[in-house]
Amino acid sequence: MSDIEVMPARPEEKPVLANLMQLYIHDFSEHWSGTPNGELRDDGRFADYPHLDSYWSGPARVPLLIRQGGALIGFALINDHAHSGRPVARNMAEFFIVRKHRRGGAGMAAAQAIFSRWPGTWEAAIARRNVAALTFWRKAIAGHPLVSAIEEEDILTPDWNGPVICFRIGAGD
Ligand SMILES: CC(C)(COP(=O)(O)OP(=O)(O)OC[C@H]1O[C@@H](n2cnc3c(N)ncnc32)[C@H](O)[C@@H]1OP(=O)(O)O)[C@@H](O)C(=O)NCCC(=O)NCCS
Repeated sequence: MSDIEVMPARPEEKPVLANLMQLYIHDFSEHWSGTPNGELRDDGRFADYPHLDSYWSGPARVPLLIRQGGALIGFALINDHAHSGRPVARNMAEFFIVRKHRRGGAGMAAAQAIFSRWPGTWEAAIARRNVAALTFWRKAIAGHPLVSAIEEEDILTPDWNGPVICFRIGAGD
């Protein structure tokens, strides 16, 4: 899909990320039924994403906006946190495509563009209840032309509950 564009978000675009994060949290709240997470505040918004500011604090964290044909359709946040405990260069911390543009290959194209731009060792952790995302990530990762060393493990710790996929793109670190 050639009309997908993934660009680092500028500091002045932080409010754009914060708005998209509200939609993302709403989607995730589906997986939080029966838990205290994801309640709306009295002002009708979800609590702000706690670590958003840190994505403009250094090279290990990258905030990305995803556009298709020039229209904003989603975002991604990359950091270097490893749920698996392995040394990884990049972790796909958050990834979102707005509902209107789903199931047309936009997510795959954006994810693969991100992997290509930041080759090396990667991790993607998927919340256990997010079964659709697991199908998505297995396909997006396995479909990258330069992928190798794909390993999936199931993690249940106080820190993480769900599958984690580790892989390498190209020959980087
Ligand atoms: C997961 C998400 C990014 C997928 O984006 P998308 O643009 O719809 O993905 P694509 O169209 O590129 O889908 C590629 C493949 O992933 C799989 N897939 C995507 N969404 C799926 C779903 N809801 N159920 C099952 N499989 C799905 C399919 O195999 C699909 O190929 P197909 O449409 O030919 O069957 C999007 O649904 C989303 O933003 N969800 C909410 C946030 C989220 O869960 N993010 C992931 C956090 S780990």
